[in-house]
Amino acid sequence: MTASEHDAAPATSNISVRRGDPLVVIENVQKHYGDFQALSDIDLTVNRGEVVVVIGPSGSGKSTLCRTINRLETITSGTISVDGKELPKEGKSLAALRADVGMVFQSFNLFAHLTILDNVTIGPIKVKGMKRAEAEKLARELLDRVGVAHQADKLPAQLSGGQQQRVAIARALAMKPKVMLFDEPTSALDPEMINEVLDVMVGLAQDGMTMIVVTHEMGFARKAADRVVFMADGRIVEEAAPDEFFTNAKSDRAKDFLSKLITH
Ligand SMILES: Nc1ncnc2c1ncn2[C@@H]1O[C@H](COP(=O)(O)OP(=O)(O)O)[C@@H](O)[C@H]1O
Ligand SMILES: [Mg+2]
Repeated sequence: MTASEHDAAPATSNISVRRGDPLVVIENVQKHYGDFQALSDIDLTVNRGEVVVVIGPSGSGKSTLCRTINRLETITSGTISVDGKELPKEGKSLAALRADVGMVFQSFNLFAHLTILDNVTIGPIKVKGMKRAEAEKLARELLDRVGVAHQADKLPAQLSGGQQQRVAIARALAMKPKVMLFDEPTSALDPEMINEVLDVMVGLAQDGMTMIVVTHEMGFARKAADRVVFMADGRIVEEAAPDEFFTNAKSDRAKDFLSKLITH
């Protein structure tokens, strides 16, 4: 199914309505740090155009999962493929894979000494060999899309946290990724800046971007997610459509987690 066919489909979130063909396929993945097993028996398929929210207590393996998907971490066993290609161990194909998988972290990780514009152009120029003029045109379009076009010549420190995180999203998009990973993108932000970042993410989801989003923002999950995946102790314990998960979680672990989330 293409993105445009998907656009014509009803906008209901329902896990039985999958959007496209499998884009990220994770099969029987185990991940150890030394003796400690951080991921156990992970099976997860994310289809093209799908938005999956990953939720779970601190230490449950959410960041590890994201980091294995773009190979910032190796896995102990199992397979992860992106768009039909199994993750390479290293070398040129790894750089290509990283370009396919955009990542936005909790801490914005912009290059402090580069302007906003240069933060967005550096990937396309250095990794993809794009001409500077073309990269700048693309960067300005993306900065406009995330609402910070007028900040292009500033340094990151001159921007608010919310603006910096939106630049980080633009920087990831500049590589034209097939899937975007977000690891608690709003957790380091002051409350008044959370929505400006979530709004950009909702827009991306509506435009058909495939997204894996670690967040505890239930409003985002309800608005944008097709599926919620709940992790605990390195395992996927439960998955469901957002409304189903938030109103009718099945496992005790998820119920316990949600009760704490709501009372704080
Ligand atoms: N580089 C590492 N070395 C050793 N243990 C790690 C490392 N990174 C994460 N862990 C451990 O793996 C578990 C999962 O961590 P993480 O994926 O960061 O969880 P989450 O993002 O859900 O909070 C935690 O117990 C954490 O201490
Ligand atoms: Mg984490």
